[in-house]
Amino acid sequence: MRQSAEQNGQWRASFNFANIIGRSHAINNAIRIAKVAARSSAATLILGESGVGKELFAHAIHNCSKRSDKPFVSINCGAIPRELIEAELFGYMPNAFTGASNRGAIGKFSIADGGTLFLDEVADLSPEAQVKLLRAISTGEIVRVGGVRPEKTDVRIICATNKNIQTEVENSYFREDLYYRLNVFEIRVPPLRERLEDIEEIIKYFINTGAKKILHQNMDEISVTDEFINGLKSYSWPGNVRQLQAVLEREIYHMSSPPYILSHLPDSILNAPPAAAQTIAHATEIKPLKQIEFEMIKAALSRFNWNIEKTIAALQISRATLYRKINEYKLNKRK
Ligand SMILES: Nc1ncnc2c1ncn2[C@@H]1O[C@H](COP(=O)(O)OP(=O)(O)OP(=O)(O)O)[C@@H](O)[C@H]1O
Ligand SMILES: [Mg+2]
Repeated sequence: MRQSAEQNGQWRASFNFANIIGRSHAINNAIRIAKVAARSSAATLILGESGVGKELFAHAIHNCSKRSDKPFVSINCGAIPRELIEAELFGYMPNAFTGASNRGAIGKFSIADGGTLFLDEVADLSPEAQVKLLRAISTGEIVRVGGVRPEKTDVRIICATNKNIQTEVENSYFREDLYYRLNVFEIRVPPLRERLEDIEEIIKYFINTGAKKILHQNMDEISVTDEFINGLKSYSWPGNVRQLQAVLEREIYHMSSPPYILSHLPDSILNAPPAAAQTIAHATEIKPLKQIEFEMIKAALSRFNWNIEKTIAALQISRATLYRKINEYKLNKRK
């Protein structure tokens, strides 16, 4: 089974660093770390919002590593039922559980032996699976579900998540010891709105591929107005490169006959609130208002060295309110 899967290309990584479009400082920084990571077999954690290209990075790291001619095995930890994830990762013995095959099966660790195992949505792993993964990484050995005999594996681990993994650790949803095992290299892939200077190049790239795929034309047949490009630049792209790709492909599908000109922004982009407002909405950590009030009052008192007149002027509240809040939050000069 392993042979045929490899032969039909199932365990191959398809992208290289050259496929990662963009030259901004932000994306170059991520690529630079990823290239260093590719030189070793150390565990690598790829972080970033949905659609930024985390999977692309995982492929590129594998393809640029010494393991490139060995399997690249991908598993989406969020898409596999909790009770099956261990069998999926480590394999199982014959009839190990209800519904298991009577021949047993090898797991993704064994399939990836010598190569790379990409654990996508790693933050979605159950606490039990996290323990088993930690053990497998620490010992280099796996035990099949229902089995007792440890088997040696040589697997390079790359993980990705779009969750804030540090918050997951702080809230005890993700094991801290596992986090430190996984992030020998930590790569943060920047959202598109932090690298707006790359948009033009990405637009051209997707128009080129879209023109070939959808219109069976060369890119030269499609012209793009500056208004169109600038309009796309002023949007905040919550769905990142994937969303930009989808928007462009939809536009190309709607062009039925020449001349092919992209000039009108799609309604979904036109009607969106201005980028700045969306950027704040996406970038800012949402906190309880009470906590923000507390932090602001504390910061103002500290900035004005507890000068009450200056503090109430800056916060635009009454003296009585300030004293009430100082009591409520038990603030004092030493805190
Ligand atoms: N820098 C880039 N250059 C070219 N294509 C890109 C780039 N970044 C992302 N893409 C494309 O955007 C799409 C989404 O990328 P990918 O699947 O790697 O995102 P992701 O970060 O893994 O998202 P998710 O968290 O939703 O799984 C893919 O089609 C990918 O090829
Ligand atoms: Mg992904």
